[in-house]
Amino acid sequence: MLRRLHHEQPESFAFTPANLEGAKGQISKYPEGRQASAIIPLLWRAQEQESWLSRPAIEYVADMLGMDYIRALEVATFYFMFQLQPVGTVAHIQVCGTTTCMICGAEDLIAVCREKIAPRAHELSADGKFSWEEVECLGACANAPMAQIGKDYYEDLTAEGFARMIDDMAAGKVPTPGPQNGRYAAEPKSGLTSLTGFDSGRADYNASAQRASDIGDTIKRIDGTEVPILTPWRDKGANHKPAAPSVKQNEAPADVSAKAKAPKPAAKAEAKSVAKPAVKPAAKPVKQAAEPAAPTGAGKKPRMMKAPRKSGADDLKMIKGVGPKLEKLLNDMGFYHFDQIAKWTEAEVAWADQNLVGFKGRVSRDTWVEQAKLLAEGKETEFSARAKKGGIY
Ligand code: FES
Repeated sequence: MLRRLHHEQPESFAFTPANLEGAKGQISKYPEGRQASAIIPLLWRAQEQESWLSRPAIEYVADMLGMDYIRALEVATFYFMFQLQPVGTVAHIQVCGTTTCMICGAEDLIAVCREKIAPRAHELSADGKFSWEEVECLGACANAPMAQIGKDYYEDLTAEGFARMIDDMAAGKVPTPGPQNGRYAAEPKSGLTSLTGFDSGRADYNASAQRASDIGDTIKRIDGTEVPILTPWRDKGANHKPAAPSVKQNEAPADVSAKAKAPKPAAKAEAKSVAKPAVKPAAKPVKQAAEPAAPTGAGKKPRMMKAPRKSGADDLKMIKGVGPKLEKLLNDMGFYHFDQIAKWTEAEVAWADQNLVGFKGRVSRDTWVEQAKLLAEGKETEFSARAKKGGIY
């Protein structure tokens, strides 16, 4: 496959201040004279910033690392992870077309891309929002067919579901990554035959999908404009340059045990606060779920019930996006029935989005109210039908 620089190039490229700091952090990993080893992370940072790698960006990175332009060009044109032409502003979709995915329907997914995005790979859709390409095996063969969108894998796809997913993304929604057919991970499609105890107490999604879901914006590039690029290793080892002590550090007692309790250096503390959403363990929200969240933030608190009606609580897990833990949290807060959720107004949805600790934004993202309306009327949603059939929970 020919990989050439795009025929239209921008005038120039420069890292944003945050990305420049991140790039310097990458370079600091390597000993003097070996800075060229940082070429891939720096090209990647440039791509995250601009969404694709332009010639000025490649040359800028080469200059930073003291490399000949041709050396940097060799790397950028060799690896498929680098996009050498503009990609969709919303998503660049990478459909796996290798054997397993091909057997399981990758061609149908590619047909959807051709129809909905552009007839040829690497072409932008008419609105500039999407682009696509076929890639080699992405290592998720047990969940074929699949596609990588942004940072995440979307697995067990069907042509219809995939087409819907593209429409959702075009409408500003962020689909939940992971298996799309109700499977938890890569267990047999017919259900578990061993280690069946694994079901109890598991998170709503598998670890990877849960983490992506917690971050809440899986298709977004980490372009360095909102979240600083973390370089925690710069606080340690040979490259460590201690930050000027803060007033509080000066006040810290000198003995060892007190030192352990002393405030951390500012850079580290900042890094920790930024990294928090990404590293939050999936189990943490469960602990908090035991206590109903204190009402905070915008919106209007919906009406709650002290206990379910005599007929018993509805199975709220039939709402897509509600797993066993979230169901327990909802019950603890006083929500037991579909018709309660079906009546939520926009302001009440905003309140719930804010107050479901550990699951913020889940109500609007997964359109609970629409789902609950159908379920309250005794109808099925696509998810509830699948969940009952496949015994997801
Ligand atoms: S063949 Fe598609 S992920 Fe391996």
